[in-house]
Amino acid sequence: MNSAMHIAQHTALIDQYGRQKRKLRLSITDRCNFKCSYCMPEHPKWIKKHKLLSFDALYQFCQFMVQRGIEQIRITGGEPLMRQGVVEFIAQLQSLRSLGLKRISMTTNGHYLAQHALALKQAGLDDLNVSLDSLDEDQFKQLTQKEIQPVLAGIAQAQRVGLVVKVNCVLIKNCNENQIIPLVHWAKHQQIELRFIEFMPLDGDQKWSVTDVVTEQEILNELATAFHQIDMIQQMNNPARQYSIDGTVIGIISTISHSFCHQCDRLRLTAEGEFYNCLFAKKGLNIKYLLDHLTPQNTTQTELEAQLLQAIWSKAQGFSEIQAQQPRVRKISMHMMGG
Ligand code: GTP
Ligand code: 5AD
Ligand code: SF4
Repeated sequence: MNSAMHIAQHTALIDQYGRQKRKLRLSITDRCNFKCSYCMPEHPKWIKKHKLLSFDALYQFCQFMVQRGIEQIRITGGEPLMRQGVVEFIAQLQSLRSLGLKRISMTTNGHYLAQHALALKQAGLDDLNVSLDSLDEDQFKQLTQKEIQPVLAGIAQAQRVGLVVKVNCVLIKNCNENQIIPLVHWAKHQQIELRFIEFMPLDGDQKWSVTDVVTEQEILNELATAFHQIDMIQQMNNPARQYSIDGTVIGIISTISHSFCHQCDRLRLTAEGEFYNCLFAKKGLNIKYLLDHLTPQNTTQTELEAQLLQAIWSKAQGFSEIQAQQPRVRKISMHMMGG
C-alpha cells in the first residue's frame, strides 16, 4: 500500500479500490406486509422488536457518518412505513443538512404511502422509490400477495404533495416480462422515472436461477418492438443505466449482466445493527453495541471509527468476485437488507 492510500484509509470512507462512500442505506425494519417472491422467504423469522436499533441510535450513527462524508441517506426495510416513528426520524435528520447531508430518500412498497405522503414531505423527505412490478391487478397480487390499488393511490398522492417518485420493477422470466411495454407507457403518462431491475440472487428462499433473469439486452429488444428511438444516456454514479425511449427516460439496473460495482459508493446498515460494505457481502459487522452507546463526545466514537474504516476499506471488488467465492449462500436476504 503506498503512503497516500494509507492516509486515505485512515481519514475517509474509502475502500481499497479507491471508491469513496457517499450513500448510506438504513434498513429500519425487516417486516413487510408484502410477500414478493424475489425477496421475502416463505417463513420469515422477524427480528424481535427489542433487537431493533432505536431511532436515537440510528440518528447518532447518521450524524457520525455525515461528519465523515456521507451525503445521501436512504431509508429502507422490509417496509419502512411499517415502523412507527419513521416520520419523526426523518424530521430529526434535517439537522444533519448543515453538516453536509444533501438528500434523504426512502424505498417503499407504497401500500401505506397515501396516508403518510404529506407528513413525509413536511418532515423533509426529498424523494421516494416505489416498487411496482406489474400493472395487471391479478399479476400484481400473485407477485406480492397484496392489492395494487393502494400502491397506485400512494404514488399519485406522493406526486401531488411534491415528492419526487421513481418506480422500480423487478423483471422475472416467464412471469412479468409482458409488463415492460405497458409500464413504459404508464410511466410516460404519469411523468415518472421507471427503472427495470434484473432479478438478483438475494431472494429469501434462494430459488434464484440465472435463467430467471430478464437481461438488460432482452429488455431493450422488447422495447424495440414498440418504440422507435432508443438511446443510451450516460450512466452517472447510479446503479441504473439510463435510456431515452422515444423521449421518455427509463433506467435499467443490470447487476447480473452489467454491474456498476466499479463505481459503488454505498454502505448499508440492517435494522439490528449489522453493517454491510456491499449488497452481496456474505457477512456483516455487528456494531449494535457500539451504536447503543454512541454520543457525539464519548470514546465509542474512536472504537466505531476504527472498526468501520477497516470494514469499508476491505470492501470486495464487486458482485462477480463475491459470487465466485465459496460458500455461495449467505444468511440474510433482501428483506433484511433493504435493496
Ligand atoms: P437512487 O438511484 O439513489 O434513487 O437509489 P437506488 O436505485 O439505489 O435505490 P432503490 O432502493 O430504489 O434500489 C433499486 C435497486 O437497485 C434495488 O434492486 C437495489 O437492490 C439495487 N441497488 C441499490 N444499491 C445497489 C448496489 O449497491 N449494488 C447493486 N448491485 N444494486 C443496488
Ligand atoms: N433482485 C432485484 N431487486 C430486488 N428487490 C428486492 N429483491 C430483489 C431481488 N432479488 C428490489 C425491490 C425494491 C428494491 C429495494 O429492491 O423491488 O424496489
Ligand atoms: Fe416487502 Fe419490498 Fe421485499 Fe416486496 S421487495 S417483500 S415490498 S421488502
